[in-house]
Amino acid sequence: MIKSKIKTIGAIVLAGSFLLATPLIHNSFSTETSGAGLNAQNNNRKFLYDEQTKKTYGPKADIVWDKPTKVAFSHKIHTKDAGLTCTSCHISLFRMKAGAALANGDMTMASMAEGKFCGTCHDGSTAFATNTKCTSCHTNATELTPKAPIVWTKPVEAVVFYHKAHTEDFGLECNACHDGTFAMQKGAAEKAGNFTMQALYDGKYCGKCHDGSTAFASNTRCNTCHIGVKGYNRMMGNDGVHGATHKDTKAGH
Ligand code: HEC
Ligand code: HEC
Ligand code: HEC
Ligand code: HEC
Ligand code: HEC
Ligand code: HEC
Repeated sequence: MIKSKIKTIGAIVLAGSFLLATPLIHNSFSTETSGAGLNAQNNNRKFLYDEQTKKTYGPKADIVWDKPTKVAFSHKIHTKDAGLTCTSCHISLFRMKAGAALANGDMTMASMAEGKFCGTCHDGSTAFATNTKCTSCHTNATELTPKAPIVWTKPVEAVVFYHKAHTEDFGLECNACHDGTFAMQKGAAEKAGNFTMQALYDGKYCGKCHDGSTAFASNTRCNTCHIGVKGYNRMMGNDGVHGATHKDTKAGH
């Protein structure tokens, strides 16, 4: 019976109606489990309770911090799935009170990188590090994405990189570049000394993708990346006035 349901759902999914199929899946499961749900104790509505192990796994709803950025924490993932006990976090790392750590003002990316709060475990060995997989904790990636373009002016003026185009328009994850290809710091590559066309042709930096297959090749469409002196001045909003016309004559390419 379940099989036939799945088949029907499959057909609906094939028809392209994902929105319709999702509630159907939930409905068929809730009818099977609602009996057990009714017998459970009152506070089970707020807490995750497992009939089989007769254990509670902490608050059912995600803890969500809205400021300064949106972050969600799931008890289920940490207790029921990863097998951590309550005491691994409470109360040495976190109080049993949503918002307490944040109100304290110390729960920042910097303190986590020093091994505090989430960083106690999210250090790259017990669990993934806080300088990776930004979007698994941050549920709103766009608020983390730099709005202003990254512009390099050395040795040639000027090369431009837009986050929005890469993350929103082309759907790349932060990790596609912030996995070691680029540091999350403006100007870092420029300081490294080998941020050259040759490096790009060798598949480094932008050349990791701009190789003619994932994205247009680095030895084509020079002007797409190199906006030149003229483009730079226009971007900085100082063309036309302040003697910019003088500079423009140098933008010969
Ligand atoms: C991996 C860490 C971690 C583990 C393990 C963990 N918690 Fe939590 N818990 C948190 C965090 C983080 C908060 C929010 C604290 C804050 O915002 O300052 C929290 C908050 C709570 C709250 C307060 C919720 C509210 O709405 O105010 C309760 C209750 C709670 N936890 C119970 C438990 C119980 C019971 C267990 C074990 C079954 C458990 N926790 C295991 C991290 C954890
Ligand atoms: C393990 C979870 C986790 C990961 C992974 C993570 N963050 Fe955070 N981040 C937090 C928490 C928790 C806060 C503090 C609460 C809040 O902002 O709502 C925070 C805060 C921030 C802030 C606010 C200012 C500051 O410095 O604290 C920024 C910006 C930020 N994160 C960026 C990032 C970026 C970029 C990445 C990926 C490199 C990342 N975070 C990865 C959990 C995480
Ligand atoms: C006591 C250790 C511990 C602490 C503290 C901790 N985590 Fe985790 N977390 C884990 C483990 C273990 C996993 C599962 C292994 C993994 O994904 O690397 C995990 C997984 C996750 C995941 C991945 C969920 C998925 O989609 O697979 C997220 C998101 C997360 N933690 C967020 C947080 C945030 C936010 C905090 C701080 C509020 C935090 N964790 C604090 C141990 C911890
Ligand atoms: C296609 C590559 C690419 C992707 C994808 C990408 N970035 Fe970047 N990011 C860069 C480059 C390049 C820099 C500048 C590094 C340099 O100058 O050395 C940068 C710099 C940054 C900086 C530092 C800005 C500053 O002013 O110092 C932050 C923060 C950042 N990225 C966040 C993110 C987040 C969050 C995501 C995912 C939503 C993301 N990036 C996705 C390439 C990328
Ligand atoms: C992780 C892969 C990846 C990396 C690394 C990467 N790009 Fe891209 N980029 C893409 C993809 C995919 C596109 C869209 C496909 C195309 O236009 O060929 C694109 C498009 C572009 C465009 C055209 C955008 C538009 O609005 O028309 C520019 C300019 C650009 N990238 C510059 C850069 C620069 C400069 C770097 C290095 C600082 C870089 N990219 C690094 C994947 C990447
Ligand atoms: C995918 C983006 C991209 C494309 C396409 C591209 N460049 Fe570059 N170019 C860069 C980056 C990034 C740098 C290093 C940062 C800087 O010099 O400001 C650079 C640096 C240079 C430099 C100075 C360093 C060196 O390697 O000598 C020259 C000259 C140059 N590019 C010429 C070109 C020419 C000519 C083309 C077209 C055949 C081209 N570039 C196409 C991104 C690109």
